[in-house]
Amino acid sequence: MSTSLYIITFISLILFLSSTTTTATTIGVTYIPSPALPPPEQVIANLISLKITAVRLPVPNPNIIRAFSYTNISLFLVIPNSLIPSISANRSAAALWLYDHVIPFYPRAHITAISVGTHVLANGDVTAADQLVPAIRNVYRSLNDIGIKQITVSTTFSFVNIMTTSFPPSSAEFQQPVDNFVIKPLLDLLTETNSSFFVSLYPYFVYKLRAEIPIGFALFQEHAYNFREDTVTGVRYRNLFDLMVDAVIAAMAVAGHENIPVVVAETGWPCFDSNHEVEARDVYARMYLQGLVNHVRSGKGTPLRKEGPSEVYIYEMFDTNDTETKGLQSDGAWQNWGFCYPNMSMKFGIDFSNGGSGVREAEVKPLTVVCVLLVYFIVLKRLGFI
Ligand SMILES: *[C@@H]1O[C@H](CO)[C@@H](O)[C@H](O)[C@H]1NC(C)=O
Ligand SMILES: *[C@@H]1O[C@H](CO)[C@@H](O)[C@H](O)[C@H]1NC(C)=O
Ligand SMILES: *[C@@H]1O[C@H](CO)[C@@H](O)[C@H](O)[C@H]1NC(C)=O
Ligand SMILES: *[C@@H]1O[C@H](CO)[C@@H](O)[C@H](O)[C@H]1NC(C)=O
Ligand SMILES: *[C@@H]1O[C@H](CO)[C@@H](O)[C@H](O)[C@H]1NC(C)=O
Repeated sequence: MSTSLYIITFISLILFLSSTTTTATTIGVTYIPSPALPPPEQVIANLISLKITAVRLPVPNPNIIRAFSYTNISLFLVIPNSLIPSISANRSAAALWLYDHVIPFYPRAHITAISVGTHVLANGDVTAADQLVPAIRNVYRSLNDIGIKQITVSTTFSFVNIMTTSFPPSSAEFQQPVDNFVIKPLLDLLTETNSSFFVSLYPYFVYKLRAEIPIGFALFQEHAYNFREDTVTGVRYRNLFDLMVDAVIAAMAVAGHENIPVVVAETGWPCFDSNHEVEARDVYARMYLQGLVNHVRSGKGTPLRKEGPSEVYIYEMFDTNDTETKGLQSDGAWQNWGFCYPNMSMKFGIDFSNGGSGVREAEVKPLTVVCVLLVYFIVLKRLGFI
């Protein structure tokens, strides 16, 4: 009698666990500290209360990294573009950076990713592109030298700088000449080092370029008839974000690497634009960000990759002049992407904890309940109770 109860409990437990182990995408935010903002300790307390578990630091000052010690917030650090030449030439330059930014804090500060440079190709600087893969290799080897193997080392490309097209996603490829001389060697290295591909991906800009895209498609406003079909594969896309992620995945597959995890290092929607673009407004920024959170947390993934991107970082927490990582692009177009005011109250409500669990439970629970009841029924019948 007690044995069968154990069996019932055991099977129910397995069914329960198997229904809840879909790994949903981690949602993080970009945070650029500034003297005009509250001190990092207060910002971190706010991040925790918002249930945000990952932070991208484009300007990783050691004091800020230290402030994240003993929190469970994972950190994505960025090495400035200006250091790429020295790091690619000299492994001790990589070690030097790690001695300042990683070794004193790791693993108390939960550093999980390092991007060697950001949008290096945006300036059309082919020399810098040439030095990218050697620099990444030097950072990876320096980490290995000191016994750290859990940090993914890569670089962040901007979608518009590397892709030929996003329509249809299955026909997307990486642009030449960078495909052959930067991206392919990078993909080989990422596979060898078990690292991820980092990409900044803004449906806002693709929407602005392509008049035929309905705004609802860019803003996760999903309706039964609101889809775009990939004419090659017949796959239906219900939002522009998935379509862009799958373009990257298709291009990686063409390059011979279909399994490298994708991290969306930046995505967001502006609340205001100095050129007075009508779509740059709070109400759309809110729709995009809440739609994004709900979608990636739902665990539905994208049509080409069932687990979706492994992490997605929202650009950004506070309005800032991100001159360091935006480089030449910082002509005023990047100043109003924050979802919080400097006093840390939100410009508009976004529920970061929402979405995923709710949607997933609704889909899975009835099935689990049916399975559990079925098992009970079979066991009870076998034992002769019914
Ligand atoms: C971090 O996570 C661990 C394990 O989930 C938990 O025990 C600990 O209390 C968390 N720490 C903080 C500061 O949230
Ligand atoms: C390599 O970098 C280290 C530290 O920055 C420096 O001391 C050394 O002179 C450099 N070596 C070469 C060959 O540039
Ligand atoms: C590769 O990385 C993933 C997650 O980052 C980890 O779960 C896995 O164990 C790693 N595999 C190897 C061979 O190191
Ligand atoms: C960014 O810089 C511009 C011009 O330099 C300035 O007007 C604006 O207030 C700055 N914004 C922030 C958030 O610092
Ligand atoms: C925070 O700042 C915003 C914008 O300046 C203001 O509207 C809001 O009332 C402030 N919130 C608090 C709690 O002070």
